[in-house]
Amino acid sequence: MPASRTAQLSESRVSDLIAREEERFRKAQPKSHELWTEAREVLPRGVPSSFQDAAPQPIFIEEGKGSRVWDVDGNEYVDFHNGFGVMVVGHAHPKVVAAVSARIARGSHFAQPVVDDIIVARELVRRFHQPLWRFTNSGTESTLDAVRLARGFTGRERIIKMEASYHGHHDTLMVSVEPHPDRMGSVDKPASVPQTEGIPASVMELATVVPFNDLPALKRGFASHPGEFAAVIVEPAMMNVGIVMPDTDYLEGVKETAHKNGALLIFDEVKTGVTVASGGATERFGVTPDLIALAKAIGGGLPCGAVGGRADVMGLIDEKRVLQIGTFNGNPLTMAASKATLLEILTPAAYAHFDALSETLQGGLDAVIAEHRLPFHATTMAARGSVTYHPTRIRNYRDYLEIDRTLAYLSWLYQCNRGVLMAPGAEENWTLSVQHSVEDVGRYVENFGEMARDLRA
Ligand SMILES: Cc1ncc(COP(=O)(O)O)c(C=O)c1O
Repeated sequence: MPASRTAQLSESRVSDLIAREEERFRKAQPKSHELWTEAREVLPRGVPSSFQDAAPQPIFIEEGKGSRVWDVDGNEYVDFHNGFGVMVVGHAHPKVVAAVSARIARGSHFAQPVVDDIIVARELVRRFHQPLWRFTNSGTESTLDAVRLARGFTGRERIIKMEASYHGHHDTLMVSVEPHPDRMGSVDKPASVPQTEGIPASVMELATVVPFNDLPALKRGFASHPGEFAAVIVEPAMMNVGIVMPDTDYLEGVKETAHKNGALLIFDEVKTGVTVASGGATERFGVTPDLIALAKAIGGGLPCGAVGGRADVMGLIDEKRVLQIGTFNGNPLTMAASKATLLEILTPAAYAHFDALSETLQGGLDAVIAEHRLPFHATTMAARGSVTYHPTRIRNYRDYLEIDRTLAYLSWLYQCNRGVLMAPGAEENWTLSVQHSVEDVGRYVENFGEMARDLRA
């Protein structure tokens, strides 16, 4: 944490508040603690995915309904975590429950096409202006397939990715996701750092890393191996380092640069997908890529993903040159949930509702930040938003490294102890649902205000 900012907020005050809030948290979570202890006997770190392993300890959830979830200790929360950005429909939405119940009663899996495949694909065509789609089961599979299609189409192997973008857990893209400052290389030449052990060096070698919002760096990246890059993959707004918005015209510049170099542009819209607008970031920022990877919110809570793109690129699947496969692709239950989500729930009225909630949050948080002269700022985009613990807008990972993680952690504790469940980690943002009310989002602002008063006390 930068010393100046800590001093500004009194370092000892921050650590006293953390100690107090951790104590309060522990007292409220005895059953979760017991289960976590038991879980560690059979699950490494006591969780099914390492992303669920967060300080002070994981919270075991019992059930969810509407905008709320309840943990095994009986604590109720307004859900701002929303399953890492999946539950934009809210929990147990009656239309999803009805669609999935009706479907499961008639069989849940055939590995044969069903009518809903066509209906959901047509809706993705309408929203994202890409003519052809295939389904997957996760964001990881969607970006994996997008990269494979780009490699097949161009006959090239190298990929350019942005420093600090997470695109899922396949080898090709687990590169420099949040590289340690000691290993990340210089700003002019970021290193390709594996996110985990177990990735072959030869795979790392194929990924060139550049900073977001930096077209000259992208051009240098392409120039480092002329004619060898299949694609550049980008989250149009980075959403795993808080929210980092693209500079004006940046995305158009990325597309032009990619095309000049004979490469494709892949948008990873796994997070932005149907959450920041009906047609995701593609619609919001007005740039249409060559391929789009989707997942999370499009499935209404079932494991769903999709990859779509230009007719000539997706045509490789028609020609049987690129194999796009998976036992559960287009699973009937998933498609039923997705159809209800996209056609009946995420309507124009839903996006108007997100905008209203987002205005309430932005206005409320801006007012608290101004009143208490806090070195933070809030960013909102329809169902998404975040507070960044830094005074000014951040443009890339190097800026993000300056944020105050201690305050991000304190804020998470304050929210959790006062009935708002946020996704853990300074890098996370919130996700609202159609079932959240103005009162629900007001609770987040109130808690934030209480933390601000305590910090300044
Ligand atoms: C931008 C982005 N792409 C891809 C993924 C991977 O998605 P999944 O966890 O469904 O494999 C994530 C997951 O958080 C993500 O945030």
